[in-house]
Amino acid sequence: MVQAHLFATVSQEPSERAAELRGLLHHHAYAYHTLDAPEIPDAEYDRLFRELQSLECAHPELMRPDSPTQRVGGAVLDGFAQVTHRVPMLSIRTETDTQASGAEAFDMRIRKELGLTSTDAPVVYVGELKFDGLAMSLRYEAGTLVQAATRGDGESGEEVTANIRTIGQIPLRLPSDAPTVLEVRGEVYMRRDHFEALNERQRQRIAAGTKGEKTFVNPRNAAAGAVRQLDSGIAAERPLSFFAYGLGDITPASAGGPQWASHHDMLMQLKAWGFPVAEQTACVQGAAGLVAFHQRIAAERDTLPYDIDGVVYKVNDLALQARLGFVTREPRWAVAHKYPAQEEMTSVLAIDVQVGRTGKLTPVAKLAPVFVGGVTVTNATLHNELEARRKDVRVGDTVIVRRAGDVIPEVVSVVLDRRPPDAPQFTMVSHCPVCGSLVEREEGEADHRCTGGLFCSAQRKQAIWHFAHRRAMDVDGLGDKLVDQLVDAGHVHTLADLYHLKLETLAGMERMAEKSAINLLDALEKSKSTTLGRFLFSLGIRHVGEATAKELARHFGQLDAVMAASEDALLQVADVGPVVAHSIHTFFAQPHHREVVQALRDAGVTWPEGDALAPTEMPLTGITVVLTGTLQSMGRDEAKEKLEALGAKVASSVSKKTHYVVAGAEAGSKLEKAQTLGVPVLDDAGLSVLLKGEKP
Ligand code: IVH
Repeated sequence: MVQAHLFATVSQEPSERAAELRGLLHHHAYAYHTLDAPEIPDAEYDRLFRELQSLECAHPELMRPDSPTQRVGGAVLDGFAQVTHRVPMLSIRTETDTQASGAEAFDMRIRKELGLTSTDAPVVYVGELKFDGLAMSLRYEAGTLVQAATRGDGESGEEVTANIRTIGQIPLRLPSDAPTVLEVRGEVYMRRDHFEALNERQRQRIAAGTKGEKTFVNPRNAAAGAVRQLDSGIAAERPLSFFAYGLGDITPASAGGPQWASHHDMLMQLKAWGFPVAEQTACVQGAAGLVAFHQRIAAERDTLPYDIDGVVYKVNDLALQARLGFVTREPRWAVAHKYPAQEEMTSVLAIDVQVGRTGKLTPVAKLAPVFVGGVTVTNATLHNELEARRKDVRVGDTVIVRRAGDVIPEVVSVVLDRRPPDAPQFTMVSHCPVCGSLVEREEGEADHRCTGGLFCSAQRKQAIWHFAHRRAMDVDGLGDKLVDQLVDAGHVHTLADLYHLKLETLAGMERMAEKSAINLLDALEKSKSTTLGRFLFSLGIRHVGEATAKELARHFGQLDAVMAASEDALLQVADVGPVVAHSIHTFFAQPHHREVVQALRDAGVTWPEGDALAPTEMPLTGITVVLTGTLQSMGRDEAKEKLEALGAKVASSVSKKTHYVVAGAEAGSKLEKAQTLGVPVLDDAGLSVLLKGEKP
């Protein structure tokens, strides 16, 4: 690691800083391109790059011919033959303004260059995805793949034909109408699921003691590693994919080669010849079309099976492209428009251990606040001791944090070069940080648990939050802070204590006006009439979610029957397997749980008891529905309840197995996914048809 700072120190001279930045950038470009072992996230590299660019711009005398801003890529490894590109492989200018204005600025530049005025028609562009892999040039002669080369420094790259031949998506032969010489340019990448599977295999190899194996930081890093494998047998084990987006050398039209009017026509021809072209590729008009494309793809980004870091806009008309030409090494007719980074770097301030409702202990990395994936992240779960050890996250470490879409933030990896000396390895606590009870880990389980049960105030608090939850007993106004106070002050020991709270006690709590205390007592009173399903869910039995609780209620009809059921009897319930059956059975076998149930009944909690049902066929049995956006006729929870009452399953994500997506106002990526997969989309009217038990 070069001893230099990521951030300029206050008193530094520009020349000193520029030299430092050059050193840093050279180092990281080498680690990234040549070693396939990046040490910092791309966003960090880009920032350093831009800092150097603007320094050189403000102080032209600092410019050096060897500055990283003056060249395109990495060095060539010894093991591969070097290939000179007949047509250089260029890069594209990156628009770092991730807002709509970034697209508008590009359109404005193009119009200006072409001398268009506001009365001229909008320019037609092709919107493409900016794939996060590595650029590849595929050379075909007389219809046969003869050479595949990486970009290298743009002038010459590495010959990796043997490895590229292992990519099933790349045609080895072309149809007879293909020109004599054809170089197809595109991106080699690894799908996310293939990446996960590869890393899993790598972990197993490491665990089995295989020397020299490592896991990969991200799909691009894994793809680059596979392409640069000297042993193409190993490359073949690492499934790669390819998308075409352009051309290199080609038989000229004057010698009988093809002539296209537009970039889009050319892409469609490549597609016809068997090259994968992303289905999202689209012709759009003017700035408004670019902005809409940028937004549409942003909504789809997290559901794509591969990583993209932005979109690319290209002027469609090839004659206009020729007129626009190039600036240094970048075409004027194309730009990459980025999305906010999904990975950033930060430091671990502490590793806390949190206690969950069922006593599960979760190590959580407390992070120096960092803006990533559109939000400020301060915490990242490390899941359990095993996972924390696998990633080997330590207090004081610099880590790469990823947050994609709605997915919870995670620590991707540790930047080992920056580990402070003496950083201790994480070990799980032996006693509960909240109640001091012994911590245990059951045989064959990854999780540690506090053995304190409801003696542990952390577990008690969460058991109460869960009990009061809208989908459980639905006690409006019993928030987290109030539960904390009630438990800490010793007013609530068991769930039933909630129903014996006095107005004076409640009104005496911090930030509790008498009015809110009265409302809470009303809400508690109201919650007493419930359903068996809600009641079972509210008890917080491990592994018993809302759906299982409803199914138990439907199956047994009466609480006493559930409480008396053997594990075998429980196994008869739909969706209940051995683990769940065991958990329910042990829950009710414990005297203090039976006491809590009795105390709740004594306090007046009731529900209509029914007969044990033989599972009947209901109007929407077997139908899976996904709800998204804001519905006009009712809330999503209400719609869910009604659909489930008719036997439908309401899922949270869209897949090929989804029968209908009900989309209200401002539906986002789920609607897009439904359209992509061809799942029927219903509006409020369609929903009401479904709720009549009919299939629209
Ligand atoms: S066009 C002359 N189109 O982004 C223009 N590049 O600096 C040549 N990339 O490493 C590039 N998706 O590998 C183009 N749809 C796309 C792309 C794309 C990803 C990569 C390319 C290159 C970098 C551009």
